[in-house]
Amino acid sequence: MCGIIGLVSQNYFKSNDVIKMLKRLEYRGYDSFGIVTNSGLFEKKVGEVTSVTDNKCTQAIAHTRWATTGEVTKENAHPHSSCDGRIFIVHNGIINNYVELKEGLVAKGHIFRSETDSEVIAHFFEEELKTKPMPGAVERFFRVASGEFAVIIMIKGDSKLYAMKRGSPLSLGMLEDGNVISSDIYAFSGKTDKAVFFHEDEFAVVNEKGYEFYRFDGTSLEPVKKEITEVKWSSNEEGKKYDHYMIKEIYEQPEALERLYHSLKNGQKESAEKLKALMKSSKRIVFVASGTSYHATLLGVYFLNKSGVEAHTIIASEFRNFYLVDKDTLIIAVSQSGETMDVIEALHGMKARGAKIASLVNVPYSTIQRMSNVSVNIEAGQEICVAATKSFVNQVACLHYIASMFNGAEIADLPGDVRKVLSQENNIRDLAKSLVKSRDIYIIGRGFLYPVAREIALKLKEISYIHAEGMMGGELKHGTLALIEKGTPVIALINGRSEIVSNVMEVKARGGRIIAISNSGMAGELIRIDSDDEVSFSTAATVAGQLLTYYIAKEKNLPIDKPRNLSKTITVK
Ligand code: M6R
Repeated sequence: MCGIIGLVSQNYFKSNDVIKMLKRLEYRGYDSFGIVTNSGLFEKKVGEVTSVTDNKCTQAIAHTRWATTGEVTKENAHPHSSCDGRIFIVHNGIINNYVELKEGLVAKGHIFRSETDSEVIAHFFEEELKTKPMPGAVERFFRVASGEFAVIIMIKGDSKLYAMKRGSPLSLGMLEDGNVISSDIYAFSGKTDKAVFFHEDEFAVVNEKGYEFYRFDGTSLEPVKKEITEVKWSSNEEGKKYDHYMIKEIYEQPEALERLYHSLKNGQKESAEKLKALMKSSKRIVFVASGTSYHATLLGVYFLNKSGVEAHTIIASEFRNFYLVDKDTLIIAVSQSGETMDVIEALHGMKARGAKIASLVNVPYSTIQRMSNVSVNIEAGQEICVAATKSFVNQVACLHYIASMFNGAEIADLPGDVRKVLSQENNIRDLAKSLVKSRDIYIIGRGFLYPVAREIALKLKEISYIHAEGMMGGELKHGTLALIEKGTPVIALINGRSEIVSNVMEVKARGGRIIAISNSGMAGELIRIDSDDEVSFSTAATVAGQLLTYYIAKEKNLPIDKPRNLSKTITVK
């Protein structure tokens, strides 16, 4: 993962202007960062993106890292430079054959300063540029490097920036007085609405007045004409009134749901109809997603099956083991970022087998959206906290809406039911305080509440650092019950007097502590849900779990928006 940026301008700009743009890419990684400018600043630091030494320049590249190869150290932070200190690179992705490339370069006398795969790129270009001009060196790089890369190269004394893409996303924004290259459009949103997206194996030469694009056809670079896309998408991190983005985003959910429903009935009506038509004409419907988005697809499958539509879901990182894909298969990718590498990989594989691709994404113009025959936006708005909250709720609502297009089911008042949970904040905060010391928490649900149990467990793990297991209530007695001791917290998701009640009894009989998220009058600690409608209950119960997680993490003083070891967008396999 990682976020990269390169800026070249007719006018002087400040190093910290680039840092501000880099900050917007921090959701891609925040282990360490660095910048180099054409007026001599070269600074790297471990930790989140913060300001750097003031420096006026007309050219700069910068990077924020999520460590893959090499520990989190200043040496491993980007930019990386060549031995002669002339060539600087920033890289997002992974060079799979870096060991082999490095060995060849070391044999030629190159000295490496980091443990990263990325540094090989700087030395590779230093070596190649000794004997050929830039296009030739790039051609050779495309030929010999395996893996995924979005790379920006800056060379001392050269007024141009060079950028290339294979696998990892890269876009170019046109500014009034220059150009900016970046992992995604967030970095320049608000500064320009004109963007050009790099396609696979493309290389660009960019200066302060313009740019040229080339495509590597397997042998050489051929010039390509690029389409300018008018991007209507703004970053909304400004105006933050809450302590953390997580709580801000939790509170935005009713509004985000209203926006989604409005859009599905108006602006996105046609796309939703198109998706329905594609689903109807397909022999097989298979969802593909990761993490929280996968949990949303479990609910999507449930709602579709109830509407009489057969659908399946496969977790993206295991998709290659799903063989029943042909030209009559519709793959529906569900992804907040639209950039998750596991999902993109799965889509490439399935496209090659002739499948049609649809998607539900939150980030417009994302790779997954651009790969799709039809795409619906979940309209959650920019989500900054690493934990997915409002995007999950909107994914579920959107999938339920699509299912209801098949059976005409009424849509309940989701925004209202979510607001009712939000109004229990004080009660939930008190409960959270009592759970701070827990080592393990179990969450049980049956039927449509099983995915919710999994989703709450994932939130607890990533944000409150408590081991949590979300499971089917009925499975408890088949093994996990052995772990229930006196006081072990078990969150039970109870919709009416369902079979889950007997699982609750099994826990109580062993001294376990039951916390019910329920609409039934069950005694004990309770977060109340005021609906028995399945989609309303599932989203409201999830919101209760989000609030509980948030307050446990807050009580523990954890880095809520940027939990350790994680990144919002997982662009590696
Ligand atoms: O952007 P995506 O929805 O494709 O991301 C998938 C997962 O990486 C993501 O949901 C992850 O599990 C979240 N951090 C969960 O809160």
